[in-house]
Amino acid sequence: MIIAKTIDELYNAKQTLSGSIGFVPTMGALHHGHLSLIQQARKENENLIVSIFVNPTQFLEGEDLDAYPRKEVADKKICELSGVDILFMPDIGSMYESDELCIGAPAIRGYILEGEKRPGHFDGMLQVVMKLLNLSGATKAYFGKKDAQQLALIMQMVKNYFMDVEIVLCEIVRDDKGLALSSRNIYLDADEKQRALALSRSLKRATKLVMAGELNVEAIKKGMVNVLEDVDEIEYVAIVDREFNALKEVKIGNTIILVAAWVGKPRLIDNLWI
Ligand code: PAJ
Repeated sequence: MIIAKTIDELYNAKQTLSGSIGFVPTMGALHHGHLSLIQQARKENENLIVSIFVNPTQFLEGEDLDAYPRKEVADKKICELSGVDILFMPDIGSMYESDELCIGAPAIRGYILEGEKRPGHFDGMLQVVMKLLNLSGATKAYFGKKDAQQLALIMQMVKNYFMDVEIVLCEIVRDDKGLALSSRNIYLDADEKQRALALSRSLKRATKLVMAGELNVEAIKKGMVNVLEDVDEIEYVAIVDREFNALKEVKIGNTIILVAAWVGKPRLIDNLWI
């Protein structure tokens, strides 16, 4: 595995590759969620590039940029053992200059739900994903459904800017109790971890309601809120189509049910695609 820390090192390392390139962008502190993307990409491509970059432009003032978990040694080991060809770990200076051309998230889809709670987050996320996709030269890039709105916006960016890369959607990985894996779960103590299960429980409740024939969005959201009493604060419960348009009724095969809530220190998100 070649570790590239600058753009030049990345380009030099890419010279050693021939054939298709799969790419998995991450912010590190790798867990089994990331690993599932890496493993899928490894299987489906001749070459595999992973990036680890805690992107400052997608963190808002007061968010956990400085405290964001960093596990460089373990991450390198995981990548090496997973058959990664190039691990790209740039510093901020390699990725940004002081006066940059910016990409903006779309006016509606980029500013509801996560975009409403974290205004500007998606602008920074799209900016870095555009840079990383261009740098990687990937034929296929892998993203988790866990960050459903992020994924929808990346797919829109690729479409709107005619980018020549296939975006591969990967399933959400959970622990054995149902908690969706996240780098921020390390902030949870034992009691909070238990209470955090309310998020996936609310999605299970939604599944049950839909399976029983309930398609009305307000009724399903009400049912979900009833099982979210263990969280400290619900930020939103939402039901949208795959492009994040509002729905009045669930459309089987084209619906995402989302929940965001605070439990202790972290803000957690989870969702279900039906
Ligand atoms: P990060 O949070 O490190 O996530 C990297 C990728 O792993 C994303 O595509 C995310 O959806 C996926 N992922 C995280 N937890 C997952 C889980 N439990 N199951 C399946 N996939 C999971 O998302 C980012 O970084 C950044 O915004 C990034 C795209 C790298 C741009 O900076």
